[in-house]
Amino acid sequence: MKKETHIAIFGSGNGTNAQRICEYFKENPSIKISTIITNKKDAYIVERAKNLGIPSHYFNRSQFYSSNNVLSYLKENEIDFIILAGFLWLVPQNLLESYPNKIINIHPALLPNYGGKGMYGMHVHEAVIANHEKESGITIHFVDENYDEGKTIFQAKCQIDASDDAESLAQKIHLLEYEHFPKVIEDVIINYKHNKNDK
Ligand code: GAR
Repeated sequence: MKKETHIAIFGSGNGTNAQRICEYFKENPSIKISTIITNKKDAYIVERAKNLGIPSHYFNRSQFYSSNNVLSYLKENEIDFIILAGFLWLVPQNLLESYPNKIINIHPALLPNYGGKGMYGMHVHEAVIANHEKESGITIHFVDENYDEGKTIFQAKCQIDASDDAESLAQKIHLLEYEHFPKVIEDVIINYKHNKNDK
């Protein structure tokens, strides 16, 4: 049995969370970030992967939704868990079936509020500020066939001050993400291994 747990990170954008996760697990002997996968060829996350020395893989819409391209790639690389870090497409059924409770997303708000199609990145923070919310936060959750609806694993909150705008809120949220996301991923994997050994 292989001892290492292999993770694939999916991302569509800047990739700061991806980088943070890679750095967090760099010295970990049992959890390895094996690959960074993207649907945006020119996303900065690809550059980050290169700088981190981690292989990356690009796929387009038809490869994702109408072929086994991505699933085959994951299997070839013996991927155990998928982490969505700023990844904006719905995950197709073939991946959901192959990775039950093993696909984890981070959302930059307190779900079930400010989730769903079109609610990503700055759009979320702009909506939260426009509604004069007093707090926001992050939600880390398992992924299902709908946007932002899978079972919540973890939430953390931050206060919104009168002086905050969408930009400053985004910065607060990113700090929460960097603090918690890698640790929550580690906990999920440890729990999974623990439960498996109990059976
Ligand atoms: C993160 O804030 C993440 O929560 C959000 O996109 C940002 C990606 O930043 N994800 C979503 O909005 C998903 N609905 P990053 O590429 O710098 O990690």
